[in-house]
Amino acid sequence: MKKHLKILFVASEAVPFAKEGGLGDVVGTLPKFLKSLGHDVRIVMPRYYRIDKFKYNLKQLPYPLGVPMGIIGTLWCGVYEGYLPNSQVPVYFIDYEQYFGREGIYTENGKGYMDNDNRFVLLSRGSLELAKMIGFKPDIIHVHDWQTAIVPVFINTLYKDDPIVGKAATVLTIHNMQHQGNFYEGLMDVLGVGWEHFNYLELEAYGSVNLLKGGIYHATVLNAVSKTYSMEIQTPEYGYRLEGVVRERAKDLYGILNGVDYEEWNPETDKYIAANYSEADPSGKHTCKADLQRVSGLPVRDDVPLIGIVSRLVYQKGIDVLAAAIYRLLDFDIQMVMLGSGEVWAHFFFGSMAATNPDKFSCVIGYDNALAHKIEAGADFFLMPSRFEPCGLNQMFSLRYGTLPIVRATGGLNDTVDNFDERTNTGTGFKFYDLTPDAIINTVGWAIYTFYNKKNAMNTLIANAMAKRFTWDESARHYEDLYYIALKKKRGKMLKGGA
Ligand code: ADP
Ligand code: GLC
Repeated sequence: MKKHLKILFVASEAVPFAKEGGLGDVVGTLPKFLKSLGHDVRIVMPRYYRIDKFKYNLKQLPYPLGVPMGIIGTLWCGVYEGYLPNSQVPVYFIDYEQYFGREGIYTENGKGYMDNDNRFVLLSRGSLELAKMIGFKPDIIHVHDWQTAIVPVFINTLYKDDPIVGKAATVLTIHNMQHQGNFYEGLMDVLGVGWEHFNYLELEAYGSVNLLKGGIYHATVLNAVSKTYSMEIQTPEYGYRLEGVVRERAKDLYGILNGVDYEEWNPETDKYIAANYSEADPSGKHTCKADLQRVSGLPVRDDVPLIGIVSRLVYQKGIDVLAAAIYRLLDFDIQMVMLGSGEVWAHFFFGSMAATNPDKFSCVIGYDNALAHKIEAGADFFLMPSRFEPCGLNQMFSLRYGTLPIVRATGGLNDTVDNFDERTNTGTGFKFYDLTPDAIINTVGWAIYTFYNKKNAMNTLIANAMAKRFTWDESARHYEDLYYIALKKKRGKMLKGGA
């Protein structure tokens, strides 16, 4: 009989409480599915002050949490407890006003907070102290990205013999290799693990402390969020100077794809869109297109191909290359709707493109979940020219809405979109390989040629796309397998006397 596991998630984002990108979607959703497989899953995250205590009915624990922070001393935190909505998954929020009583999660006005190291070390170490305080003895501690990557280092050092957390196997999911948590070496004195760990195998990288590197070295097993990304991060193009460290751990590295929350992203039930539609009756999609054109201030025309973009407007997403392609793209008879925020230059650049091409290009700078849904439903195509894309969620949403993805074949985009094959009329979207303006223009050209001239092929592609499913249930089962592998590995190591 399978053992039900105690699993502690530690992360810097979880929907609906705090989200900057897909990490928040994953941490707010996967635990619910693990719970329904019978596991006891709990989440620890910061109590950012934008999280509304009353709306989410958060209750404060009666005692404070002391978190040792090396030379800073012990920081005394509050702890709030709540639940992921519509679930039995407890969420613990570490409350420390000086660190989390701010507007942003990581940044404000486009600039990262200068104490992000201490903020997330507090979360990481705090999660272990919290587990001890509430007597939760995890089999698995599942951490995410650089913000919590130091937890496996703590487990293998300071907490090695701890009766509550010391035996936990650690799983590090890498959602993004570009951001590594690189800080001044003095951070070692806050971590308190001992300077002997500041070496080229563990925490030192190019003279700095690199938190992600420590996690990659110390975690029992690793996961990247798609098969292709798990291969890519072993190469210099995608490894951002940690490719060698990742390669060393290649046999413990997995590539479990994220799932989609189909309760939220389903054109049959979506409350944000003008008309619901389904694979059997996709006609409502035309109503959604007209509605999107209307709210975007574009001419309402069913005969013109409409391309949607919802994205963080950052280097990762290839928006600089898109900027170089956009003049020529707008020479086609097309419409584009962009929603996003990020780098300041992009706000000005795409904003002014919209001002000068009001009949073709609409751009909303900001974060707007309802509009994101309208774009998924109302566009004909969805463009993602990512430089790297560990998994990517929007292309999976697009498929469900019959909005054909036009993607660069990287990471999860490569694994979830099947290229249109003209001979066999199969596929779910359009792929390109080189990240160049020409590749974007040619592939958009191919897609709109298909739209204009090959109606039957378009309808087949739409039907294929809408039939695709990437369920969390399946991903959760893969994670469950990974947890058992991690436990076995940890036990084997402990029997041999290792960490
Ligand atoms: P990443 O995490 O790299 O940003 P993903 O595709 O994994 O990329 O996830 C992005 C998530 O954020 C999706 O849920 C997407 O709908 C959402 N999103 C991104 N930008 C916006 C925006 N400006 N408005 C609304 N939703 C957005
Ligand atoms: C990161 C990646 C994105 C992925 C998300 C969730 O933000 O950029 O591709 O989907 O994490 O894993």
